[in-house]
Amino acid sequence: MADALEQIEQVSHQADGELAAVKSNAELEQFRIKFLGVKGLIKGLMPLIAAAPKEQKRIIGQRVNTMHERVSAAFEEKKTGLASQRVGADALDVTEPGIKPGIGNRHILMKVADELTELFGRMGFATATGPEVEDEFHNFVALNIPASHPARDPLDNFYLERTPGQKPDQLLLLRTQTSTVQIRVMETQKPPIRVVIPGRVYRPDTHDDTHLSMFHQLEALVVDRNVSMVDLKSTIMQFVYAYFGQETKVRFRPSFFPFTEPSAEVDLWFDLPDGKSRWIELGGCGMVHPNVLKTVGIDPEIYSGWAFGFGIERIAMRKYGINNIRLFVENDVRFLGQF
Ligand code: DAH
Repeated sequence: MADALEQIEQVSHQADGELAAVKSNAELEQFRIKFLGVKGLIKGLMPLIAAAPKEQKRIIGQRVNTMHERVSAAFEEKKTGLASQRVGADALDVTEPGIKPGIGNRHILMKVADELTELFGRMGFATATGPEVEDEFHNFVALNIPASHPARDPLDNFYLERTPGQKPDQLLLLRTQTSTVQIRVMETQKPPIRVVIPGRVYRPDTHDDTHLSMFHQLEALVVDRNVSMVDLKSTIMQFVYAYFGQETKVRFRPSFFPFTEPSAEVDLWFDLPDGKSRWIELGGCGMVHPNVLKTVGIDPEIYSGWAFGFGIERIAMRKYGINNIRLFVENDVRFLGQF
């Protein structure tokens, strides 16, 4: 009897080992035939029962039955396991159209700013930047804008609240122009200077199709020996032709800025989307005022300079046919995605 029980135990053990190694439906079917089939190893144990003495038949028979039930159950479990694996694999349908990841793009204004600094870079200009929170010295005083000047009116500027202990002459404000960076560049660099300065500026303007209280300017500053108005005009015209096309009409209109003398405003002739054509002001320019050079310790008898400050939104709007400045800040991807 011990022999018979051991034989049953051995088949049981073998079945466990082989079932554990099954990895596919085909292997599982082979297992079924080998152990559970009509000519399988478990059925093959039947003669043991027949051969056993009468009083042992029941015990041996029970053992075979229990083992058969156990292996059958394990077989079923394996079958479901393999099936669920297959569903998992089928769930990845490689022929299904994919979901395109939404990769953003650089904001159109930043692209235009890059185009401009790149273009001026090819004309030998370095790029400089400066802080958006400025003191009155850099925003006004050093730019030859006296305390009495209407540009310093609190209603026309975003002054920052005074912090405790701050002296009255140390008022801070959001810069109203990138010309502030002209001063910062001249404070730290000796001529020859040739820089463009892209950046944000802030003014408490009422918003409409062409005005926002925050916008961008591209400033330029050249300081060297023998710099004249000819350099200013020819550089601006070269820029305009390169960026807007050779046919573009440019107009210089006499104007006034405290930090330049003489000063001019630059207009370009555009055919607008509404079918009308007219002059559009790009910004101001002029020869750097001797007072400005003196303030930063540059001798106006030896050096002269020119500067301009253009609106980047205006440039972008004309270059890309954008008719409302608010589109730049509304964050509508249908707009932003076009560029
Ligand atoms: N800062 C002036 C403004 O915001 C623009 C400007 C005019 C800049 C003349 C200049 C300049 O550099 O020379 O209105």
